[in-house]
Amino acid sequence: MGFYELQQRFAKTCPALGLIGNTPLVRVDCFKEELPDVEIYAKMEAFNPGGSLKDRSVAYMVMAALESGELDATRTILDSSSGNAGIAYAWLGAALGIPVTLVIPDNASVERKKRILAHGATIHYTRAQDGYDETLREVRKLNDADPDRYFYANQYANDYNWRAHYETTAEEIWEQTDGRVTHFVTGVGTGGTITGVGRKLKEKNSRVRIECVVPDAFPGIEGLKPLKDPHDIVPELLDKSVIDRMWDADVDEAWEMNQRLARVGLFAGQSTGAYLAGARAVAKEAQNAVIVILLNDIGERYMSTRLWDA
Ligand SMILES: Cc1ncc(COP(=O)(O)O)c(C=O)c1O
Repeated sequence: MGFYELQQRFAKTCPALGLIGNTPLVRVDCFKEELPDVEIYAKMEAFNPGGSLKDRSVAYMVMAALESGELDATRTILDSSSGNAGIAYAWLGAALGIPVTLVIPDNASVERKKRILAHGATIHYTRAQDGYDETLREVRKLNDADPDRYFYANQYANDYNWRAHYETTAEEIWEQTDGRVTHFVTGVGTGGTITGVGRKLKEKNSRVRIECVVPDAFPGIEGLKPLKDPHDIVPELLDKSVIDRMWDADVDEAWEMNQRLARVGLFAGQSTGAYLAGARAVAKEAQNAVIVILLNDIGERYMSTRLWDA
């Protein structure tokens, strides 16, 4: 059963589930003078009920597990997250009446932590300086110690993560651009977005380019992995074959892009700034490009960080 069928079925008992997806696509006018021939669009993932792109993946993983019987209300949903997936699990678990336990790094913004706790989920913290991978090691330890208690969703390896973007995000981008999209600029947290959207857009038109931004420092940009670090665990589901090019995302430039977005009325989180910096770099080289990025989450989620200090 596909995403939309499961969504329809579960929305009967959990109406908020029906609100996930079908987000608007808006034109971003930051570079009108500098790059007049290029169209850049942002897909407003902050419009999802949990306020981020991760609602799609988390909902699909949870719905599929409920459907298969792997998950029921006697178990606890368990996963690691940089924050946004954690919020998605937390609100969805609360809406479905299923307990949730999350492992997140302690540098996740206080806005994320408070929201997760507000929905009644339990948080285990790891030290930020040990990297996102420490959350993976910790979540495995918890699961191994009590496997019958948990449904370990494992968003880094669960195929429903990338399939959510393959079946929904990418289809919406294709329809909303009338098939004109030439470049999709994104990054890697779990690899769900790039793998799902990349595969589907390339099936639609093999000439669509998938451009991947990678932060040049850690901890640099919440949500994005520093893939170039040889010690960094590469997500199991990441399909590197869809990536046409990697771009270094300079953290200062990414934050400057957040400010520029704010000045045209769009208020986004850190990773969106990095995606826009990538889009600008692509736009400088491409003629008549139609570039799509995700507005991954809303800027308010970062009020307690240095992002808006400038
Ligand atoms: C703010 C933000 N940006 C980007 C990403 C990367 O998305 P994905 O996990 O699909 O690679 C995530 C999620 O991990 C995120 O929370």
